[in-house]
Amino acid sequence: PVIVLHGFQAVKDSLTTYPEGVSGRPTTPFFNEKANEKGILLTSGHTWKQQRRFGLMTLRNLGLGKNGLEHRIQEEARHLVEYLMSERGQPLDPSVSFRQALSNVICAVVLGHRFSANDETFQQLSFFVSLLQLYDTFPWLMDHLPGPHKKVRSCEGFLYCFAKEEIRRHEESRVPDEPQDFIDFYLAQMCKDDPTATFDEGNLIQTILDLFIAGTESTATTLLWALISLVLHPDVQEKVQKELAAVLGPSQLICYEDRKNLPYTNAVIHEIQRYNCIAPVGVARQCVKDTTLLGLPVPKGTVILPNICSVLSDPEQWETPRQFNPTHFLDKNGNFISREAFLPFSAGHRVCLGERLARTELFIFFTNLLRAFTFRLPEGMTEINTERIFGGLLQPHHYKICAVPR
Ligand code: HEM
Repeated sequence: PVIVLHGFQAVKDSLTTYPEGVSGRPTTPFFNEKANEKGILLTSGHTWKQQRRFGLMTLRNLGLGKNGLEHRIQEEARHLVEYLMSERGQPLDPSVSFRQALSNVICAVVLGHRFSANDETFQQLSFFVSLLQLYDTFPWLMDHLPGPHKKVRSCEGFLYCFAKEEIRRHEESRVPDEPQDFIDFYLAQMCKDDPTATFDEGNLIQTILDLFIAGTESTATTLLWALISLVLHPDVQEKVQKELAAVLGPSQLICYEDRKNLPYTNAVIHEIQRYNCIAPVGVARQCVKDTTLLGLPVPKGTVILPNICSVLSDPEQWETPRQFNPTHFLDKNGNFISREAFLPFSAGHRVCLGERLARTELFIFFTNLLRAFTFRLPEGMTEINTERIFGGLLQPHHYKICAVPR
């Protein structure tokens, strides 16, 4: 049995009233074999709790919220701006460069270094990660689909070897008391003597893959939709650029903290996430015990699909749910306001582990791009395809756009 939760109230209440009861992930023979009940994204129970807690703590230790990781994001934004500058306003497909920039942020978190865009291993990594993300979002479907398993296995083989090689490199070079990245922190944790611990190489490899799979395509896809929304709403684009020019210096390093002085820009980024809901049903959940949802008894094992798009377009929550309208996040005086029904990262115990990282990435990439460029459709083109490609993430069709230096 599967329950689809529809609308803000149903999703919010079901995921947060008895959050423990709905904290599992569906398991199927295919996925048991694939993730082997390891890592964060597809595990349940004791392993998931330990790996998730450790993942959150390590992201904090690596300095999100302070300056460490933010600095890496700024660096990637600079590389992206430089690449787009080199194209001199000619039509280009931004998808590969966006995906690589976001992959490089995860590389910085997990591996402690970035790759250059023409590195062959890196190109394969970015491509395979984008393929695998689909299978992780719909684990429960996999047993019913014919064919694609073999392709998935060859991606996994590559990613598995890649992760293993990085772990070996870290084992050789790490300084025990000075962890520099996620792998260093994890290896230090593995050395601790605790009989209940689930920190072993298998869980480390799967967690590395989880961070790449969950943390690259999601943010890259949001930025691809952002450009579409901007070319469709040139007035919004211009208003953001004016606000950026009034508040930031032309070469000032942009920090996440700056959002507080950029209410309109911040509202536009939120509206991009709301209007272009990218994770239609988040990642499927499963009841780990008999529980209660919206006052009704639900047996252990029931699969739960929270329809996140229905929350982000709930007519009881949003004034103009079907329109792109940044004032959803502004009060009468133009101040930014948070909205309870803004749940693109889901809610409850399994809320996106990378929410803070993703928000920082979106803000820093978006502001750097709009300070440097005006985005326009190529000469002679009057329309852009806004249909979503259905999958684990709702992605736009490939498109070309001009990043015209300002
Ligand atoms: C715009 C970007 C992103 C969106 C919209 C997004 C959204 C989501 C959603 C809806 C879930 C499912 C939560 C649930 O089961 O209820 C999720 C889980 C997850 N996300 Fe994100 N995410 C984004 C970026 C990231 C980034 C950058 C990372 C990197 C650290 C990340 C890591 C994860 C992980 C590890 C999980 C699994 C958590 C668990 O199972 O406990 N995400 N994300």
